[in-house]
Parts: sequence; C-alpha cells; structure tokens
Amino acid sequence: MDSIRIVRINSHIYIDKIMSLVYFKNVSKSYNGSLILDNVTFTMETGEFVSLVGRSGVGKTTLLKMLIREELPTKGKIFFDDKEINKLKPNEIALLRRKIGVVFQDFKLLPDRTAFENVAFAMEVAGYPNEMIKKDVPEVLKLVNLQNKADNFPYQMSAGEKQRTVIARALIQRPELILADEPTGNLDPINSWDIIKLLVKINELGTAVMLATHDKEIVNTLGKRVISLENGKIIRDEQEGKYLI
Ligand SMILES: Nc1ncnc2c1ncn2[C@@H]1O[C@H](COP(=O)(O)OP(=O)(O)OP(=O)(O)O)[C@@H](O)[C@H]1O
Ligand SMILES: [Mg+2]
Repeated sequence: MDSIRIVRINSHIYIDKIMSLVYFKNVSKSYNGSLILDNVTFTMETGEFVSLVGRSGVGKTTLLKMLIREELPTKGKIFFDDKEINKLKPNEIALLRRKIGVVFQDFKLLPDRTAFENVAFAMEVAGYPNEMIKKDVPEVLKLVNLQNKADNFPYQMSAGEKQRTVIARALIQRPELILADEPTGNLDPINSWDIIKLLVKINELGTAVMLATHDKEIVNTLGKRVISLENGKIIRDEQEGKYLI
C-alpha cells in the first residue's frame, strides 16, 4: 500500500511515495476446503516490530509461511517491498528469502556443524566469498552474545544458545524482516526474555520483526504493535497493544 510524504530539502519540495514493507490484501487461505484465514488485510512498515497473536491453530504460522512463499494464498495478494509474492520468478523467490530471515521454534540447526559453521553455511549457500564469511560471522555471533560458543556443536549448546545461533543465522544475510515463530516456545522464562530482548535490539538496529507468539506476558510487556487473530480474522490491531485472549 502506498502513502505520500512531502519532504522539503533546501526550499525544494519533493513528494515521496512510501511503500509498506509488507502488504496483505484481502488474503484468504484454506486447507482442504476448510477456511483458516478469512480476508485478512494489513500492512507493516519498514523497521516496525509487530506481534502476531491468537490461539493455537488460528493460522499464525500459515501467515508467516505465505510471506516467504512456502504456502500460497487461496485468495488475495501479498506484497513484500511492493512486489507481489505470487508473481515472483524462481530467482526472485530466492532473493525474497534472503530479505526475510526466519527463526522458528524447532531450531533446525545442522547437528554436525558448529555455531560458526551453521551461521557460515547460510552465507556459503548464498555464494558469499570466504573473506566476507570470516569477517561477518564473528560479528554476528558477538551481536547475539555467542562469541565464546562459536566452536560448539548444537548438542553442546543450551536451548537458549541454539535459538541465538538460529537468530545469528537469520541475521547474517542482513534481512529487512525477521519472522520469529514462537521463538521462545522451548525456553524457560529467563532465556525467553533474552531472546525477546535480542529481537528488540535487532529491531532497534533497523530490522523489522514479526513475532508470532502465545506468550501474553511477553507481548504485554513489549508495548509494541499487536495484531490479534481469531476465527480467521484480524479482530484487533493496536499500537502498544495488549494480548487479551
Ligand atoms: N499443510 C497443511 N495441510 C492442512 N492443514 C494445515 C496445514 N498446515 C496447517 N494446517 C491447519 O491450518 C490451521 C492453522 O495452522 P497454523 O500452524 O498456521 O496455526 P498456528 O496459529 O501457527 O498455531 P500454533 O499456535 O499452534 O502454532 C490448523 O488448523 C492446521 O491444522
Ligand atoms: Mg504456529
């Protein structure tokens, strides 16, 4: 969705078109004839932090999967960076997935690679040169406070450390948006808070974050935008929202 901003620079006036980072336009999704998401419309701006909440089975993961084109909408259109996701060519889909980093609850780390290698792998696949990998991976591991665990394999890491490795892997490609799907689902409250604080820090550094969660306490304490889903629809969309369900 576009909106207009008027900018004045040295007595010249420019009209600037602002694009939303994400635009769901009348999106419905059915599985086997049963309607999961029903005519969902919303936008998310560059650099925003949005929590997506609702009961189990409401369609949070489905919504995130449609954004990275792992699932297609049954009806409606989804735009990322003003491009319609359904219409992307294969090479553009690869680029989309580089612009959107994913952090899911089940870590999906490669078990036979260290923290460093798991993060480096994402860069190798994307074809980055070795010198860049050697420079960037330690920086990102430092950002998630894992500089001392770079040589640990997943079985040698705590759940919180594994989740921070996953976040480092998502960050390494400098995405515009991080999708975090129940990233605290396997963690105790203290580790959960560390992960949430890390997502907030990443957001403050300029990356948009969409967090799907059940955790009322986290959402209520965050004081950021909350989109609530119920029966396939957005029933609330509030800045500094609360999780009321
Ligand atoms: N591939 C699939 N085929 C058929 N039905 C599916 C498929 N994926 C999800 N569903 C159904 O769609 C609905 C929404 O699932 P989804 O995983 O998006 O929910 P969710 O809000 O993420 O739930 P949770 O909070 O438990 O993670 C559920 O009823 C689920 O059974
Ligand atoms: Mg889910």
